[in-house]
Amino acid sequence: MFYMLLDYYSSVSALYFYFVKPRKSIWSQQLKSIPGGLLFSFEGPDKAGKSTQLRLLAASLRQCGYQVHETREPGGTRLGEELRSLLLQFKQEDISPEAELLLFGASRAQLMRQLILPAMRQGAIVLCDRFIDSTSAYQGEARGLSQEFIEAMHQFTLQGKMPDRSFFLDLDVKRSFARLRQLKPELLDDDRFEAENEAFHQRVREGFLKLAAKQPGRIKTFDASLPKSELAARILQEVRNVIG
Ligand code: TYD
Repeated sequence: MFYMLLDYYSSVSALYFYFVKPRKSIWSQQLKSIPGGLLFSFEGPDKAGKSTQLRLLAASLRQCGYQVHETREPGGTRLGEELRSLLLQFKQEDISPEAELLLFGASRAQLMRQLILPAMRQGAIVLCDRFIDSTSAYQGEARGLSQEFIEAMHQFTLQGKMPDRSFFLDLDVKRSFARLRQLKPELLDDDRFEAENEAFHQRVREGFLKLAAKQPGRIKTFDASLPKSELAARILQEVRNVIG
């Protein structure tokens, strides 16, 4: 009886080690893990090509075997996506600048705790379409809210972390408007931010430029009018420098 049991146990464990374990280790070999993870954000005006560049970078990194999470702001979680529809569709007069700022902060706090920090703990690379610099540029510079308060809000929502690199895709305001009119003319009235006038978007751009000048180590500026593939190659090179 004892030997039968031993036999049974050893054949079950053999099955486990031959079939289950190897598959597990092949799987974990496929995904490279980075201790503490990495966080990269894409910033810039509307229609600078951030989402396209984010997707291209995600594809290149996955091809190299990294675990990649793509997300966006506002949004990325159930709560964040609800806040996103409120933020983009509410009429200008129905939402105060202060309320707007706090809603962006709420979306980010949720995203950080629910998705970004756990993914980074697992060694993943997180790519975020817009992040803290959009708040500093849109709510801080363009709407004129306190930059000191906004910085304190970043500390609070990010729990002391910062993006490893932020890619600012810089585009002349006139070009950004032209791209918008060409691509989605109906959105010029639909989305509160896209419906803002050129002076507002000029202030947004100045906001990004000031941030990039203040934090050249983290914020890398790219000319968004470059061909897509050229831009993608430059961003990938920057990421390679960080990964080492
Ligand atoms: P979205 O459609 O994602 O714009 P885009 O495709 O250009 O990224 O809309 C997000 C809008 O929200 C965008 O116009 C910028 C604005 N925004 C802020 O004003 N503050 C913020 O903190 C963030 C994250 C976005």
